[in-house]
Amino acid sequence: MGRPGVLGAAGRFGLPVPRIAAVAGLVMLVAGACAASAEPGHVGSAICTACHDDIAADWAGSDHAKAWTLPDETTVLGDFGNVTFEHGGQVTRFFRDGATYLIETDGPDGVRRAYPVVGVAGVDPLQQYLLSPEPGRTQTYDIAWDVERERWYPVFPDQVVPPGDGFHWTGPYKSWEARCAECHATDPPHCRSWG
Ligand code: HEC
Ligand code: HEC
Repeated sequence: MGRPGVLGAAGRFGLPVPRIAAVAGLVMLVAGACAASAEPGHVGSAICTACHDDIAADWAGSDHAKAWTLPDETTVLGDFGNVTFEHGGQVTRFFRDGATYLIETDGPDGVRRAYPVVGVAGVDPLQQYLLSPEPGRTQTYDIAWDVERERWYPVFPDQVVPPGDGFHWTGPYKSWEARCAECHATDPPHCRSWG
């Protein structure tokens, strides 16, 4: 009696087969969220501030607003006045070209290049800078600015590793998308292109 198998099971949950298929299709759509934007996207805070201006003003003055910013005169605290910093034989140069902040250092292949700063993390007691060694990938540079003492210093003093090592600034342990953005950014960075 009754029909056995999947249909019978579905019947017990009270869902006819076509509805199960529809639900499964929806789940698949949501899983492909970045590409298809089937789930609600990041709308930005501007659409909330019209009604919540007091909360927005409090937030703007807090460290939360500075967890991740873009580099400019108001956000960058570090000394980019063409200064060099040496750590374990590795030399970093911090300088500017007009409005662009640059960090010259060893790339993933060991070749020295000047990388533009694409993001700024934090404000106090330290500030770290984000570089993009290749499109779509953002890495945290681990010579950071000590805001109180106004000096460059290594975040991990015991780490002096070559390119290719996971702990090198170009390695997976220093990936902004994988290791930091979850807490420091709102707009999911894997859906964003740094160009
Ligand atoms: C058109 C006006 C308007 C806009 C736009 C708006 N809100 Fe609200 N929001 C309100 C009102 C009114 C309340 C209820 C306030 C109350 O109960 O005191 C509220 C309440 C809230 C609360 C609950 C606050 C609490 O104390 O319980 C949160 C959280 C919130 N809004 C977040 C947002 C976010 C995030 C956005 C933007 C995506 C947003 N709102 C956009 C009017 C707005
Ligand atoms: C689990 C959440 C979380 C993750 C992951 C995380 N952070 Fe943070 N980070 C925080 C919080 C919370 C603070 C504020 C702590 C405080 O002020 O005591 C902070 C503070 C900082 C600061 C200090 C500046 C400031 O304004 O407080 C810097 C720089 C920073 N994080 C960089 C990074 C980097 C780089 C990564 C990835 C390698 C990372 N964070 C990963 C939560 C996180």
